[in-house]
This record gives sequence, C-alpha cells and structure tokens, in this order.
Amino acid sequence: MRLRTRLERFHHVDIRRLLSGIIVTVGFVVLLVQCFGVPCRKGFCLSPFKVSSDFTISNQVKTEINFINLSENDNGDDGNGYEDDEYENGKKRKEGIDRETDVAISNVDVNVSVIATRNVSFEKPEMTVESSVLVNGREGYVLSMVRHNRVAVTSISQMNSLLIQSLSSFRSPKPRWSSARDAEMLSAKLEIEKASVVHESPGLNPLVYRNISKFLKSYDLMERKLKVYVYKEGSKPIFHDPTPRGIYASEGWFMKLMESNKKFVVKDPRKAHLFYIPVSIKALRTTLGWDFQTPKSLADHLKEYVDLISGKYKFWNRTSGADHFLVACHDWGNKLTKKHMKNSVRALCNSNVAQGFRIGIDTALPVTYIRSSKSPLEYRGGKNASERKILAFFAGSMHGYLRPILVQLWENKEPDMKILGPMPRDPESKKQYREYMKSSKYCICARGYEVHTPRVVEAIINECVPVIIADNYVPPFFEVLNWEEFAVFVEEKDIANLRNILLLIPEERYIGMQAKVKMVQQHFLWHKNPVKFDLFHMILHSIWYNRVYRVRTR
Ligand SMILES: *[C@@H]1O[C@H](CO)[C@@H](O)[C@H](O)[C@H]1NC(C)=O
Ligand SMILES: *[C@@H]1O[C@H](CO)[C@@H](O)[C@H](O)[C@H]1NC(C)=O
Ligand SMILES: *[C@@H]1O[C@H](CO)[C@@H](O)[C@H](O)[C@H]1NC(C)=O
Ligand SMILES: *[C@@H]1O[C@H](CO)[C@@H](O)[C@H](O)[C@H]1NC(C)=O
Ligand SMILES: *[C@@H]1O[C@H](CO)[C@@H](O)[C@H](O)[C@H]1NC(C)=O
Ligand SMILES: *[C@@H]1O[C@H](CO)[C@@H](O)[C@H](O)[C@H]1NC(C)=O
Repeated sequence: MRLRTRLERFHHVDIRRLLSGIIVTVGFVVLLVQCFGVPCRKGFCLSPFKVSSDFTISNQVKTEINFINLSENDNGDDGNGYEDDEYENGKKRKEGIDRETDVAISNVDVNVSVIATRNVSFEKPEMTVESSVLVNGREGYVLSMVRHNRVAVTSISQMNSLLIQSLSSFRSPKPRWSSARDAEMLSAKLEIEKASVVHESPGLNPLVYRNISKFLKSYDLMERKLKVYVYKEGSKPIFHDPTPRGIYASEGWFMKLMESNKKFVVKDPRKAHLFYIPVSIKALRTTLGWDFQTPKSLADHLKEYVDLISGKYKFWNRTSGADHFLVACHDWGNKLTKKHMKNSVRALCNSNVAQGFRIGIDTALPVTYIRSSKSPLEYRGGKNASERKILAFFAGSMHGYLRPILVQLWENKEPDMKILGPMPRDPESKKQYREYMKSSKYCICARGYEVHTPRVVEAIINECVPVIIADNYVPPFFEVLNWEEFAVFVEEKDIANLRNILLLIPEERYIGMQAKVKMVQQHFLWHKNPVKFDLFHMILHSIWYNRVYRVRTR
C-alpha cells in the first residue's frame, strides 16, 4: 500500500518532469528551427535578420529575433522572373517543398526573444549557425548571418587558380581499352594548346574570354569533329521529355535541341566522343511521387539507369562514365549524380564549389527562366549605359538567409538603390520589373536558397551589369569566360558595403563592363534552331572542352 503510493508519487513527479523537459526541449528546437531558416508549409517560420545581442556571455547570446511570417503560396513556374531559386539542401525537414508549392512572405512580423548558443548545431556537427557578422549601422542592432553549413568561401580568384590547376592536372580514369575517339580528343587538345593567336574576331570581344584563340580553336574543332550518341533507353517523363518552360528550362531546352540535332548526333555509338544521358532531374523529382522520395531513392533510380546502359552497351564500362554527360538544372542535380556519375561531365545550375561542384570537371549551366517557350528571347535589350540612372536594382522573394539581410539593409535607404522585396505578379508589375532591369546600372543577383538564380541571365538579357552575391557560386561557362570583365562579385560578408563597392567602380570601367555584357548576350540565348555561339552550343562546348582536357589514353 505504502509502496504503491510512493511509486505513484514517483511516477507523477517523474513524468511531469519528463514532460516539461520534453516540452521545453521541443519548444526550443522548434524555435531554433523557425529562427534559422527552415521553410514551413503553413504558418509561421523563418529567417531571423534583425538581432540585438549581447556577446558578453561567453558561449550564450541573448537574441531578439525578428521573425517573418511565411505562408503558403501556390504559384508555380508561372512567376515573373523574380520568384526563383530552388533551395533544397537535402535536409529531411525541407522535403515536400518544391517550386510548385513555394512559400512566400507576408507582412506580419513578430519579435521573439530567445537564448541561443552562439553556434547551434543541427543534426550534423558541421552545421552551425554563425551569430552576428554585420553591424547595420544602427546602434544596438546586429545582423545575424545564418548559414547552414559553415564553409570556407572560395573567392573568384581562387576559382581561377582551381581551374588552371584542374585543366593541367586532373585526368579521367584510364580507359579499359583504347578507342580511336580518345586519340581524336587528344589530338584536339594538342591543337587547342597550340592555337595560332587571334587578336580579334567579328562579333566577339576578346577581353571577355580567358583566351579567345583557344576558345575559337576549340569551338571550331567541336563543330568539325564532335559526335554525340544519345541513349534511347529510359521512359518518359523522366527521360526524353523536355520541359521547355519554367525555372529549369535549361535542362529541357538542351535536351530538346540535343535529341533533335542532326549535326552532332550519331546513330552509331562507336563513332561518338560523348554519350548523352537524356534525363530530367526535375521530372525525376516530381514524377516518382512526393511521399516516398529521398535524395537517395532518386539517386538509386539513376543508378538503375546506369546499370541498364552499362549492362547493355560496353561504352560506360570502358571509361567508367567519363565520356558520358548530363545536363541538370534542378537543385538536386549535383546531389543525385555525385555518386553514380562521378566520372561523368555534369552540366549543373547549382554550381556550388562548397557542395561538390568540381571546377574543370563539371560545367556551370546558366539558369534561364523561360516564361514562353514560343518566344524565349522576348524583352531583350535595355537602355544604354549613360541613360541608366538607378545604381542598383533587386526585387524578389526572401528565399534563403541572404536576401532578408539585403532588403533589411538597403530597402528605402538610398534613392539610387532600388532594393525591394517580392513584387506582385500582375502584368504591370512584371513590366515594372523589366523596366528596372533595363534602366539600372547594376542588377543584384543575390543567392536564394541555393547559389544560382535566373537573375544573372536576366541581367545580361536586359543589358544590366550583374552583381553576383553568392559565395562559392561558379558562374556559367567559367572555363571560357572572363566573368570579372562584365560582372561584379561581392562576397556575402560585404553586403553592408554594397553601395560603396559599386560607387567605387569608375564610370569608364562601368561603361566597358556594360558594353561587354552586350557582347556576351549571344551566349545566353536559346534559339529554336541553334545558331553559332548560342546557349546550346556554349553548353555543348563546355562539355566538350572539359572532356578534351581530361581525356586519357591507354
Ligand atoms: C501568418 O500569415 C498568415 C497569412 O497571412 C496568417 O493567416 C497567420 O495567422 C500568420 N501567422 C502568424 C503567427 O502571424
Ligand atoms: C519588432 O522590432 C522592431 C525593431 O525593434 C520594431 O520596429 C517592430 O515594430 C517590432 N515588431 C513587433 C510586432 O513588435
Ligand atoms: C563556435 O563559435 C566560436 C566563436 O565564433 C568558435 O571559436 C568555435 O570554434 C565554434 N564552435 C564550433 C563547434 O563551431
Ligand atoms: C592563348 O593561347 C595560345 C595558345 O596556347 C597562346 O599562344 C597565347 O599566348 C594565349 N594568349 C593569352 C593572352 O594567354
Ligand atoms: C559493365 O560492368 C558491370 C559491373 O562490373 C557489369 O555488370 C556489366 O555486365 C558490364 N557491362 C558489359 C557490357 O560487359
Ligand atoms: C543612347 O541612346 C540614345 C537614345 O536611345 C541615343 O540617342 C544615344 O546616341 C545613345 N548613346 C550611346 C552612347 O550609344
């Protein structure tokens, strides 16, 4: 009897303690998850950016966080150019959210106080949250820069060195047996290396290329020699079913133009230098059913395909996939292919060196947000340099940790900085967005959930100098183009200094950059019937170029 009472009492207290412990812990975790950038479907989450903090307590920071309320928004691909970016970092809690059921920000904000340890770890030990990187000028307020993975920043000049290193040292695995194609690729490489020096070429500005002589030689050899075999295996819609519209249009347009190409495509795979795997990562992501997908299950699906073609043909096994390529714009392109297609040339939009993109092996694919597949070239052009009165323009959703900071720092701060949040989606606003791009000197291409954004190509189409704020992003056709000649790279940590950085660029240099933006525009345009130096050819060229430099013979 007595024992029972004691047991009951013990039980009670214990359970109550346990419960309150669980509630506190869960509450804290939920709060942290809400603070540090995990989108939710319905309700209330995300993105702290205004923080007043007290760093005197050694390992703890008292933080006042300004939440932004996120609510569901069912806009699909039909947005207007400033709703962009895929953002799946492969974390379990983000799953189920994709472009089609994107989130957007409403105006409600609530201030909450939390005590957060200075660097909070989620799941994996390397996932930490940095507190307070920037001071926004106002007394007592510190901006909190939240990064999910604390990673080193690779600057653009370090990327240049990596490229040189990679081209001179990295080779594919040795082929199992030799092939006449390898010998042809190798002789192409030698020809490129000893290209006769070209100083100018009609329609091309030599300064925008790393080496115009090599580029022209390589391009010419591609046109004359390259043969591509396109695998017939795989069923629609994951394979052979290009989507020509939307944010992932690059993979769709490439697939469509490659599969219907007469010049490069050969029927006999023995004649091919390169083998194309006509897969759509977007379709893979959306077709297999939302509920059971994990990156691993999707990667396994690709592995089955690789097993299929490597069992049926001898080509994959000969080079372990090194002469095979794929073109993927979906965020998961890198993640789903890095294991089973690690030797292949991967053209990826999500070209983040901190997440496994390999300079000189993979190639960066531009994001082209196509609204009308009938007229992918609409609204090209813009005011000339002297008539651009707005210093910098940005508008868009608050995807990721960086944009809230950008907007917080610069919205309505200076008359020449048009830095806005999301714009409405009506035709008037879309037109206004384009007008801003056409009449601004610099267009801010700030990363969203991932490093890539359609703004880079939008800026080029509207003849606005892109300002890329996306650490570790490798810009498209990096092997060939000298991006610093026509774009500005600002490190994320320098965002508070953005205006000064832009104002310090001399007018003459600006005019030069803007002229070069016009000169590279042709490389970023889709044509129904591909033309020389257009986007289709540039993608194929980068793939060819990377393969040529890595080819190995027995
Ligand atoms: C968030 O926004 C939605 C839609 O505007 C609203 O219904 C909801 O109450 C808001 N949540 C909070 C916590 O303010
Ligand atoms: C949150 O804090 C900011 C800055 O102190 C203040 O301007 C804003 O009104 C606060 N919002 C709410 C909902 O209390
Ligand atoms: C936490 O932050 C401090 C100071 O920023 C740093 O020295 C320490 O290495 C960090 N710890 C981890 C586990 O990242
Ligand atoms: C470009 O490459 C060619 C061929 O290798 C070389 O002769 C030339 O010096 C290079 N030009 C520049 C500017 O590096
Ligand atoms: C290629 O290699 C795989 C794995 O080693 C093997 O199963 C397959 O049969 C090979 N393909 C051919 C055509 O021999
Ligand atoms: C800029 O555009 C205006 C009208 O569109 C034109 O008159 C002027 O010559 C142009 N200036 C330059 C430098 O091209």
